[in-house]
Amino acid sequence: MKSSVVKDTSLGIKPIFRRFSAVIGGLDLSAPINPEMINQITNYWLEYPVLVLKKQNISDSQQVKFAKSFGELEIHPSIAHRSSKTPEIYRVSNVDENNQIMKPKSTPWQYLELTWLWHTDSSFREIPSLGSILHGIEIPTNGGDTLFADMTKAYEALPKSEQRRISKLHVFHSHDYIISQSKELSKRDNKGQYEALPRVKHPLVRRHPITKKQSLFLSPHTMESIAELEENEGRALLDDLTNHATQEQFVYRHKWEVDDILMWDNRCTMHAVLPYDSVNHRRIMHRTTLVGDSAPKA
Ligand code: SIN
Repeated sequence: MKSSVVKDTSLGIKPIFRRFSAVIGGLDLSAPINPEMINQITNYWLEYPVLVLKKQNISDSQQVKFAKSFGELEIHPSIAHRSSKTPEIYRVSNVDENNQIMKPKSTPWQYLELTWLWHTDSSFREIPSLGSILHGIEIPTNGGDTLFADMTKAYEALPKSEQRRISKLHVFHSHDYIISQSKELSKRDNKGQYEALPRVKHPLVRRHPITKKQSLFLSPHTMESIAELEENEGRALLDDLTNHATQEQFVYRHKWEVDDILMWDNRCTMHAVLPYDSVNHRRIMHRTTLVGDSAPKA
């Protein structure tokens, strides 16, 4: 994602939660989007890490086309959650491709519930994702909101001595650790089909490659341990920092409406889905995920 000078377009921006989330207006993603508009969205995205676009009734291929304007797309490692027609679409959905709610407790249903834990997309990769674009297609009446934590503000609110101490630390992340978070899946022989991904090591504090602001880099569903600390001490620090970053003053809560599109910058945010009745209520969200621009650096 490159940023350059904004030319005047008809896009409007309305902040929702501090300088963190905003609604961007004047866009119709079913019509061709010109490069100036992409340029302006890119600049707004750097200013507001969570952007909301309302009333975008678009197909998967239109979503993929729009997402590709910002860079290359990832293919999700979970084979069961990829769209069979459009593999760049990760189906964050309790409804299968036959339009039925997944069998409760089935392996893909269990894996989906792990999105209820705080995480940063693709933190299990050597180069984690740059950003994600999510289309809300069916929304439950209760629950299923998405929470976003401002990891820059959370870092800036720490005492300077703590910032200095944690800036020297690194965290081991893995996709396998996600599965270990599910009491059910971790016991099963069949844990689902995923592409094999090696464990990776990331700094606990990262610097945004474009804005240069520092932020906490946490992703509780993939964080195994802190490389420099003994296991219990490392776990306690990761838990403390997660509790700190998810305090109300750092969190934007998005209540979905059908055809909302959310774009978030994974380099300075983390998110979690609020639990909903996924046995009886449908929630269909289609995500496209941008390949990261660089390995995180302190
Ligand atoms: C995700 O965890 O990436 C998807 C969030 C959501 O379904 O709201």
